Amino acid sequence: MILKVPPSAKNKMSTAPKLLIDQHGRRVDYIRLSITDRCDFRCVYCMAESMTFLPRAEVLSLEECARLVTVFVALGVSKVRITGGEPLVRKNALWLFSAIGQLEGLQELVLTTNGSQLEFQAQDLKNAGVKRINISIDSLDADRFKAITRTGELAKVLRGIQAAKIAGFESIKMNTVLMRGINEDEALNLLEFAIQQEIDISFIEEMPLGDVDHVRGSTFVSNDDTLKQLQSQYALLASTETTGGPARYWRVPNTSTKVGFISPHSHNFCEACNRVRITCKGELYLCLGQESKIDLMPLLRNHPHDDQPLIDAILASMQIKPKGHDFDLSRAQPSIIRFMSHTGG
Ligand code: 5AD
Ligand code: SF4
Repeated sequence: MILKVPPSAKNKMSTAPKLLIDQHGRRVDYIRLSITDRCDFRCVYCMAESMTFLPRAEVLSLEECARLVTVFVALGVSKVRITGGEPLVRKNALWLFSAIGQLEGLQELVLTTNGSQLEFQAQDLKNAGVKRINISIDSLDADRFKAITRTGELAKVLRGIQAAKIAGFESIKMNTVLMRGINEDEALNLLEFAIQQEIDISFIEEMPLGDVDHVRGSTFVSNDDTLKQLQSQYALLASTETTGGPARYWRVPNTSTKVGFISPHSHNFCEACNRVRITCKGELYLCLGQESKIDLMPLLRNHPHDDQPLIDAILASMQIKPKGHDFDLSRAQPSIIRFMSHTGG
């Protein structure tokens, strides 16, 4: 297949580029783009055992993904995270990384992956311009890992981490979701592994996204508890570093490892929010925890050679970016019906 990037927004934006500033005065310079809702794993907090995925025609083509990213970068976006589902199970995903890795104005191209394909793709991704990589890993016990992911193989992901280290990304970070009664006792083990591997780790609180096969509140582990557990063994040093998101970082003294805590429940982080999300269907969600969105797919498909309608819609969307998320674990129903694999993590 020959893939060609359509005429870019650059040509159409010869006047001073507009920046994305939302109705609350926050500058949006970071997009997270999901390139597929499919995944080779079925993590229990992310998916139900049986899932229906979108038909191919309803998913953005890779050319459309490249066109969207080009437009956002022309609007001042400097950081792009490619997510899924599992982005690396999408056929030809590497083409997209190479196409956007070269964009002028893009400072950081980063990837979130489950690591299952990394042993084969890490070096190519690095060569394509991917700077940093987040790998989801919730257990270091093979049986548990299998139980949590339902289909995943720990050894493969560990080989993926080794391949990523050899490829030499600027940073590699493990993402871990702890669940009560399932893997909450692994926080220290996982941190020790991260230290040994000279990589970083972030603990993500389970978010009520999509209807899974357990009641969310029953497995919730607070990051405050996880932090206390880690502090019983390590004199963690608070770091002022921020990515404008819900993560707070700590350093482990005498190591290169940083520990992050992504705590949408226990800490409100929305006032500094700098990001928007695009689903694999081209829906632009202004907040992970709210329903405000606009559909970019019709603008892409109805105006294949004119980026202006797309640009106007994206600029206008800044007026509906909500002030903050609306997660509430005490509700019986998930607050947000869509799955993380739909919106992108
Ligand atoms: N809550 C918290 N984290 C989740 N992830 C997927 N679904 C959820 C959820 N409901 C995590 C994955 C991955 C990251 C992108 O998001 O484990 O590491
Ligand atoms: Fe796949 Fe990631 Fe969801 Fe697990 S959390 S099922 S790896 S998309």
